Amino acid sequence: MSKQNLPLDPRLNLCAEMVRAGCKLADIGTDHAYLPCALAQAGKISSALACDINKKPLESGVETINRCDVGDIVKARLSNGLEQVSPDECDDIVIAGMGGELICSIIEKAPWLKIEEKHLILQPMTRSETLRSYLYQNGFEIKLEQAVESDRRLYTVMLAVYSGSVKNPTELESRVGALKPLQRPLDKQYLDKVINSLKKKQEGLTLGGDLSAAKKLSCLITEIEKYTTGGQL
Ligand SMILES: C[S@@+](CC[C@H](N)C(=O)[O-])C[C@H]1O[C@@H](n2cnc3c(N)ncnc32)[C@H](O)[C@@H]1O
Repeated sequence: MSKQNLPLDPRLNLCAEMVRAGCKLADIGTDHAYLPCALAQAGKISSALACDINKKPLESGVETINRCDVGDIVKARLSNGLEQVSPDECDDIVIAGMGGELICSIIEKAPWLKIEEKHLILQPMTRSETLRSYLYQNGFEIKLEQAVESDRRLYTVMLAVYSGSVKNPTELESRVGALKPLQRPLDKQYLDKVINSLKKKQEGLTLGGDLSAAKKLSCLITEIEKYTTGGQL
């Protein structure tokens, strides 16, 4: 079988960049297993578990592993979240392309992630504010967060590490995380998108007569706008 080089789209590529060189990787919800296979081909990881809860995606994962000829490094495994993964099998854990709430529940069921040696690379498709809030309230620090454009959509990718310092984030902190809108134009664009969607929600609340909720949202919008133009958290 001929070896095929696997290009990653910008979203998965940013996840891949946050993976530490030489680490043991677990890719949870791997689907086609593009991420672990590309990293194995690049010689960046020592091993990878490509995990998925569903058989069909895992079969595509196995096809990719075979096509790329990286079966010595990447193993496919049927697993609900990290249930079938033991702590000594991974240093870095990628959970990408899932809803923020599902990512929270996967982390919650694996308390062994709460040591600073483990790195979580998380890419929520929805409810990123719920995920950030969960991380802060459970002693994780968001060490790095960056927005990325893929297929004309904006995504956020975060690197979270356990520090043991538990905090109740403000609404603003949950919305902006560790994005750096003054340093990175894409982070600013991502937050502008957040602001626009909150404005639509606020209009809906106003039309529906829930003026107190609309006012609260309006304050949050102003706070995010200030932050993206130079304000402090
Ligand atoms: C949209 S795909 C994302 C694929 C890839 N991670 C990416 O970001 O391009 C989501 C995958 O997560 C899998 N999945 C959903 N819930 C899961 C769970 N609890 N544990 C493991 N995999 C799960 C689905 O079967 C699906 O293959």
